[in-house]
Parts: sequence; structure tokens; C-alpha cells
Amino acid sequence: MSKGKLTGADVAQHNSRESCWVIVHGKAYDVTEFLPEHPGGQKIILKYAGKDATEEFDPIHPPDTLDKYLDSSKHLGAVDMATVEVEEKAHDPEEAARQERIKNMPPLAACYNLMDFETVARSVMKNTAWAYYSSGADDEITMRENHSAFHKIWFRPRILVDVENVDFTTTMLGTPVSIPFYVTATALGKLGNPEGEVVLTRAAHDHNVVQMIPTLASCSFDEIVDAKRGDQVQWLQLYVNKDRAITQRIIEHAEKRGCKGLFITVDAPQLGRREKDMRSKFSDAGSSVQASDGDSVDRSQGAARAISSFIDPSLSWKDIPWFQSVTKMPIVLKGVQCVEDVLRAVEMGVQGVVLSNHGGRQLEFARSAVEVLAEVMPVLRARGWENKIEIYIDGGIRRATDMLKALCLGAKGVGIGRPFLYAMSSYGQAGVDRAMQLLKDEMEMNMRLIGATKISELNSSMVDVRGLTGGHNGVVPQDTLSLRAYDPLQAPRFNEKAKL
Ligand code: LAC
Repeated sequence: MSKGKLTGADVAQHNSRESCWVIVHGKAYDVTEFLPEHPGGQKIILKYAGKDATEEFDPIHPPDTLDKYLDSSKHLGAVDMATVEVEEKAHDPEEAARQERIKNMPPLAACYNLMDFETVARSVMKNTAWAYYSSGADDEITMRENHSAFHKIWFRPRILVDVENVDFTTTMLGTPVSIPFYVTATALGKLGNPEGEVVLTRAAHDHNVVQMIPTLASCSFDEIVDAKRGDQVQWLQLYVNKDRAITQRIIEHAEKRGCKGLFITVDAPQLGRREKDMRSKFSDAGSSVQASDGDSVDRSQGAARAISSFIDPSLSWKDIPWFQSVTKMPIVLKGVQCVEDVLRAVEMGVQGVVLSNHGGRQLEFARSAVEVLAEVMPVLRARGWENKIEIYIDGGIRRATDMLKALCLGAKGVGIGRPFLYAMSSYGQAGVDRAMQLLKDEMEMNMRLIGATKISELNSSMVDVRGLTGGHNGVVPQDTLSLRAYDPLQAPRFNEKAKL
């Protein structure tokens, strides 16, 4: 045993609720008193009592978590990892099959569009990670609608425009970018890739687009900022803590570290029910705990609920002046869903809104952002307010044509989230790089085909939105859950001998 270090046996003795030590990254921590405070519930920690919890800990907690939330007197020091018993993992046929699929993955060059990454990711990601990323609220109707809404918009292209040179650079909150999309904030990057969000930082740099840093990242905020290069620009997505002093510290720190925009999430006073996520947790023995056994957090609610208990549901319009008083960063409200609230945002003097329903993960039957955009822009124009605020949208964007439709309608840019996570989860940075390049290639071609040489030439006369704005006409994406649950109705039966 190396001198001064704890041994695996020392730690293993503390394997109960009464005395609970865990090892994370080669160091031991006494978490006995912390158990009731753990936002993810006690049971999941107790599963690792006296053991090495690093693998479970990593994706869900930024590396500075223990320093921030566990008193230094509970940091017990280094453990001689050679003395820690390595638990034999029981053979898991599902995991073996996944490893086999990883070995036989299609080459990156076989991915020709953003959906291809999604298809590959579905087969190679761990179930729990896939469930967290891919899940939407309730019957996932809004999630599907986000994508299919773009199919209700058709182009009215211009011909005989000299499109030899096409330039789709633009600016977002004053930052020049190479193409009008940004990497929007998505939580828990390490569920998909061991390096987490810094992979997206590097790809965003290489393609000269903005990255929005999520509050609930797996990497620490500073790691993500440290990964930026040159004059790369990042924004901060903010979940507002009940303790405003914490929120203020986060904002001030982000501004000091050079963030150029504060995106306050306003569509999630409580995180929605994502049943795929809940189900996958439920089958993960050890974490499928009900609230009734003394554990204040119901882990059966999935990863989303476990990481979000700090969010302040009392956040309201009244708080906006306070945000404006604590930062000089432009403020953007993320998750606005109707024209009335856009008008109010203009009146409050915020610099932007993201029309968004949170990737269909929050209010089920929230309309798609692009539909809301089509409602918002004519009203802003009628008031002469269209240049008073920057309008972004996110949700369901998979093609450059989707992006073009949004820009024609008046969006300044679009946020893309899940597709980059899927590209990163299946092929790492090379995957994200290819996904971004594919969008650029599609953009160049489609700008030519629509007859526009620069972003400022895109306008609402280039799209036909009658299919989008005429109400929903009963056209709703299919509810796949009920399709399986309802018995199909039977037609009257003929006598079996009858020839039909
Ligand atoms: C989610 C939150 C964390 O949608 O943004 O899961």
C-alpha cells in the first residue's frame, strides 16, 4: 500500500446509510450527511456505498461538483486504487449486442444527412443515454410536429438569378457566423461521449458557429470555456436557481469569462414527463426507487427530474429587470411560444427570443416554433418592431431547407441540438464536423436553387405557408403509443369458406 493512502478495504467498511463513503476518481468522500440532500436521491448513492462510483457519477456531475457541494472536511483523500476490488460485471447480453453493433457501424462517410446520425446513434448508444436524449413529453406529438411542421411549408423560388457566388454568412447578437445556425444547449453531454460538451466546442470553432453552454452540462462551465479557441463566441443557457445569489454568481462568472449572450430558459418551470427516460431508469435496478421509501426524490422519474430540482418555478416577468441590472450581456428569452409574449419581450427591452418548445420535451401540444414564427413576424412588421428584437427558433431542424424556411419567414437564425448530440455520440468530433459540413453543403445548393445569393435576400415571398397557418386541420403526427395499445377494430367476418 502506498503511504498515507486509504485502501479499498478502508472504504468498503463504510457501506451503509449510517456511514457511507464512496470513491470518485481515485479519492474517497464521506457522503453520509449529504445523502438526504442529493438531488438525484439517496438510493443511487447507497448502491455504491463503500465502492467506486466514478462510472455512474461522471456523466451526471460536472467535475467541480464535489468541491462545490461537499464540505472539504468530507473529502477523505486519495485511495490506493490497486487495493480496490474490481467488481466483475455480470454478462449483459444487451450490452454485448450493442458492442457488436458498434464494431459494425456504418462508416462516417455513409451518413449523408442529419437523420442518418440519429439512426446510427439509436443503435450504438447506451439505452439510458438514448432514452434521455431522444425522449419527448407525453405522446411525443409535439416532438414529431416540430419536424413535420417544416413539411407544410413550400418554396416559391426565383429563377434566373446569378447564383454563382453564394454567401450565407450572417450575424447573431452582433457575432459574425459562417452559417445561420448555432449549437443549442443540451444537457448531459457525457451520456453520449466521454469527453462531453467540449467536443461540440471544438466543432463549433472549426465551423465558426456559436455554441450555447448548457447549465446542466456534464463538463464544468469553465472546462467548456477553456476549450474555446481564438475569438470563438459562446452563450450561456441559464436555468434560474431558487437562490438568486447562486444565479447572480453564475451570470457574473459567465460574463467575466467572455460569454456574449444570456439565454434564460422560460419554458421549464418544471421539467416535462419524458416517459422513455422514465422507463429506462425504471429498468435500471438500484435507481428505480419510489419516493415512499424515505427517498425524497423519485428516481423513477428519469434523469431529467433528478437533475432539475433546483429550478425556480416562481420565475416571472417581474424578474427581467433584475437580470438586466446584473449583466451587460444581451438577454434572450428561450422558450417563447406565442406572439403576445414576444411583444411583451420587446416591451421589456430584451434583445432576443428563441421561439421554442424545448425540443418537444415540455408542454405536449405546444406548437412548433416555425408555426409560431409565422404568427409572430407579420405582427412585429405591422408595428415596425421587426428590428427591435432578434428572433431565433429551434426544434425539428434537420435540413438546410428547414433553416431556409425559418430565415425566409424572418428568423435571425436557428438552434440545432439533438442532431449534434447524435453525431457526437456515434462518431465523436468527426461526426459533428461532418454534420455541420453537410448542413453547409445543403445550404449552398439550396440558396442557389431558391435564387438567393445572400441571407438578406431571403424573404417571406419565397415561401408558401398556407399549409402551416391554416390551423391544424386535424393533421397531427401519429400517436405511436396508442397505435400499439388500441386493438384494431374488426370488420364483420365472412364465413371462412367464402372466397374473398
Ligand atoms: C432537458 C433539460 C435538462 O430538456 O433541458 O432535459
